Amino acid sequence: MISPVLILFSSFLCHVAIAGRTCPKPDDLPFSTVVPLKTFYEPGEEITYSCKPGYVSRGGMRKFICPLTGLWPINTLKCTPIICPPPSIPTFATLRVYKPSAGNNSLYRDTAVFECLPQHAMFGNDTITCTTHGNWTKLPECREVKCPFPSRPDNGFVNYPAKPTLYYKDKATFGCHDGYSLDGPEEIECTKLGNWSAMPSCKASCKVPVKKATVVYQGERVKIQEKFKNGMLHGDKVSFFCKNKEKKCSYTEDAQCIDGTIEVPKCFKEHSSLAFWKTDASDVKPC
Ligand SMILES: *[C@@H]1O[C@H](CO)[C@@H](O)[C@H](O)[C@H]1NC(C)=O
Ligand SMILES: *[C@@H]1O[C@H](CO)[C@@H](O)[C@H](O)[C@H]1NC(C)=O
Ligand SMILES: *[C@@H]1O[C@H](CO)[C@@H](O)[C@H](O)[C@H]1NC(C)=O
Ligand SMILES: *[C@@H]1O[C@H](CO)[C@@H](O)[C@H](O)[C@H]1NC(C)=O
Repeated sequence: MISPVLILFSSFLCHVAIAGRTCPKPDDLPFSTVVPLKTFYEPGEEITYSCKPGYVSRGGMRKFICPLTGLWPINTLKCTPIICPPPSIPTFATLRVYKPSAGNNSLYRDTAVFECLPQHAMFGNDTITCTTHGNWTKLPECREVKCPFPSRPDNGFVNYPAKPTLYYKDKATFGCHDGYSLDGPEEIECTKLGNWSAMPSCKASCKVPVKKATVVYQGERVKIQEKFKNGMLHGDKVSFFCKNKEKKCSYTEDAQCIDGTIEVPKCFKEHSSLAFWKTDASDVKPC
């Protein structure tokens, strides 16, 4: 028969042994991660140390198994900052933003920004980044870009810098003679594709096509003969009032000045000033 004291004693030993065998939470190492991370580990459990992105160690990652002693082996992993050497500079480019953060080198995720010399356009991204491979992302290219001289529009004029050649980002401005207005922007720019951002032209203005009428222009009722006494510009749009005889109500139809021509809607009836007893369509309730 075994003494109860002995049983008690051996179970106590056993308990101490098991408790002593679990491994504690592993030490933190700079710039590394541990998987799986727990507060304690049973003997035989495995952990892996590896460097965080942007860091490397000689020999790569380290695996450890929790030993029966409950003490993790000494870890010699050393994660150090990946560095990129100073970037090379594309031809016709300058570095606009660059600050080496590790002596003469850059750290993972550092960036540098290029700018092209005047008359040159950038193809690719102006920003490069130090990668986990210790090299930079793809460098952009700077190319000289010329644009042809913009031609003078019919019934108008163009101004541009008095130079033998026009380059990327040069500008030209347009205007029209009296009786004409610009179709397009007043100012254009030489694009990186070697053409102009737009090519405006001059379009004829329109004479007011009726003696008098109340019309809607930009949301407001105006007297066409007063509002447009100097003519309507190319693109100007007005709405004329027409009558629906059966329903005794009014509706509107649009007319637009296109290069000197405006067509009055067929439903519009201009009254003689003598026909004072007739109600103008613009005074009839809308349909
Ligand atoms: C950085 O480069 C310069 C020129 O090559 C050199 O004289 C200097 O010692 C370098 N500095 C470091 C911290 O490496
Ligand atoms: C240029 O690169 C940066 C950083 O890599 C990125 O955030 C940005 O979206 C890129 N720009 C273009 C236009 O591709
Ligand atoms: C950077 O280095 C990696 C690995 O050597 C390579 O695959 C990648 O093409 C390089 N990137 C550039 C932009 O040179
Ligand atoms: C400029 O040239 C490119 C390529 O030839 C073309 O796709 C683009 O539409 C042109 N831009 C203008 C404003 O004409």
